Amino acid sequence: MRQFLHLFLVASAFGSPLEKRVSGTSVVNLGNNTGSPMHLASGILYGIPDTPDQIPQNLYEDMGFNYARAGGAQVAAPGRGWIWGLTEYKNRFASALSNYQTARTYDANFIFLIHDLWGADGTQNSTAPYPGDDGDWSDWDDYLTHWISDIKANNATEGLSVDIWNEPDETAFWNAPQAQYFQMWGRTYHRLGTELPSVKLIGPAFAGQPDASNDWWTGFLSFVASNTSVPDEWVWHMEGGGGDMEGAYGALFNLLGTYNLPNNPLNIDEYSTYAEQVPAGSAWWISQLERVNAIGLRGNWLSGSQLHDFLASLLSKPNADNSNYSATGGGYFPNGDYQVYKYYNLNMTGYRVGSSPSADLKLDTYATVGSDTVKVLTGARITTGTWQVEINDLSAVGLADSGTLNIHTWSFPFTGGHFGEVDGPTDLGWYEHTYSGNNVTFPIYQTDNSTAYAFEFLRG
Ligand SMILES: *[C@@H]1O[C@H](CO)[C@@H](O)[C@H](O)[C@H]1NC(C)=O
Ligand SMILES: *[C@@H]1O[C@H](CO)[C@@H](O)[C@H](O)[C@H]1NC(C)=O
Ligand SMILES: *[C@@H]1O[C@H](CO)[C@@H](O)[C@H](O)[C@H]1NC(C)=O
Ligand SMILES: *[C@@H]1O[C@H](CO)[C@@H](O)[C@H](O)[C@H]1NC(C)=O
Ligand SMILES: *[C@@H]1O[C@H](CO)[C@@H](O)[C@H](O)[C@H]1NC(C)=O
Ligand SMILES: *[C@@H]1O[C@H](CO)[C@@H](O)[C@H](O)[C@H]1NC(C)=O
Ligand SMILES: *[C@@H]1O[C@H](CO)[C@@H](O)[C@H](O)[C@H]1NC(C)=O
Ligand SMILES: *[C@@H]1O[C@H](CO)[C@@H](O)[C@H](O)[C@H]1NC(C)=O
Repeated sequence: MRQFLHLFLVASAFGSPLEKRVSGTSVVNLGNNTGSPMHLASGILYGIPDTPDQIPQNLYEDMGFNYARAGGAQVAAPGRGWIWGLTEYKNRFASALSNYQTARTYDANFIFLIHDLWGADGTQNSTAPYPGDDGDWSDWDDYLTHWISDIKANNATEGLSVDIWNEPDETAFWNAPQAQYFQMWGRTYHRLGTELPSVKLIGPAFAGQPDASNDWWTGFLSFVASNTSVPDEWVWHMEGGGGDMEGAYGALFNLLGTYNLPNNPLNIDEYSTYAEQVPAGSAWWISQLERVNAIGLRGNWLSGSQLHDFLASLLSKPNADNSNYSATGGGYFPNGDYQVYKYYNLNMTGYRVGSSPSADLKLDTYATVGSDTVKVLTGARITTGTWQVEINDLSAVGLADSGTLNIHTWSFPFTGGHFGEVDGPTDLGWYEHTYSGNNVTFPIYQTDNSTAYAFEFLRG
């Protein structure tokens, strides 16, 4: 009876649970310790105000903020970057430096976007110059000279990485020949490697995921192998609303074998669409990134001053979404998506355990085993339906291989949307599950496309 109540509560918008077909099962294996949680997915693209301390400290700390990425894009005029002259370069640099300094306050790493500082942030006009146009590299060389000097003058190398160019496979960011991009990569990599040896050089930050039939990937890997300009981290973006991390990493792994390249760490420095930036979508992405040990930075779908605000759509404030919005205003509060990152950072402690997504890749699960409690976070990829979570090897956490298990359920609603206020998850109570065979299985009734769930139970 209690078990039925549990199902009924989680499924309140549904009819009888028995009528609903289960689409698949996400499996947690408690016996598979995959190491310490480092909340790898807690990075953000932009989202940091250029005024230090505008967002209160606890809002950075509680979400586990540990990675930032910026380069002064879309700052107030005059600030269109190097291609518009030194003053417009300086204004972008000041924004990026401020964001860097904020990041370092929290011991977060920082990825400098030198394409944005150059001026290719996607708002540049159709005749804007690119490095090496007509075989002339003098302007790019001069630009790098200024940038290297400014980085050194500001002691800004600690925790610093450089994405040599963002999404060159998109004409919005690189409207010049592919071969010219490879030359730019080779020149820039070797110069920065010599002049800023402690700075990580990462890339290629393609919009497209690794794929043996994508000539940006094959051309790039072939070039860096022959040019000895292998990035310190393999970077690409997952913002198309499709794909999955095991598939994408598997394709990269095979390509690295083909070109005899090292299996360097992964950095997905833009992940999730705006629609996926909801509790269920974030739980799904956290599970995906953690499984392959990829660093992840949330994409940012806001523009203008809002690009430099709200920690990449995790926060809101009064007038956030109306014409009275103020770039420098305060009064910040968390949205529903924020609560997932807070739980992931502060509550999911101990050690991680392996899991697998449902076969249809729609439901995924991230789990940790703490000194007292097992915690399982789950979310569907912004869709509705019925799936199951199966938790195997209960004896690995000291439980009997059959009996009853009391599970504490929490929901993470997205009340009010990206600009709504949610101050914590909702307690759905404790419910008993009878199990045998050393595993317990329970359904997830995903009746909306945004709510994530967490399940907690005591170890034996
Ligand atoms: C396009 O941008 C470049 C700087 O990137 C500028 O020199 C040029 O005047 C702009 N062209 C137009 C038509 O605005
Ligand atoms: C530069 O930064 C490093 C690391 O943060 C610090 O140890 C050092 O004191 C700084 N140097 C100066 C001159 O500020
Ligand atoms: C790498 O490519 C750049 C651009 O063509 C070139 O300047 C550099 O000499 C190359 N380095 C090596 C080691 O091949
Ligand atoms: C903006 O503020 C003005 C002045 O306080 C107020 O009259 C107006 O209704 C506000 N607009 C919105 C969309 O809240
Ligand atoms: C997360 O941990 C905090 C601090 O221990 C606790 O107060 C809170 O209830 C926990 N949240 C959930 C959802 O378990
Ligand atoms: C443990 O989990 C990791 C990550 O999900 C997975 O790659 C690995 O194959 C699992 N190992 C076992 C023995 O299940
Ligand atoms: C889970 O338990 C059921 C019995 O409840 C058993 O049939 C099944 O083999 C178990 N699964 C695993 C992976 O051990
Ligand atoms: C999620 O559901 C809401 C409410 O039904 C709907 O407005 C929204 O378009 C849906 N989003 C997706 C990605 O399906």
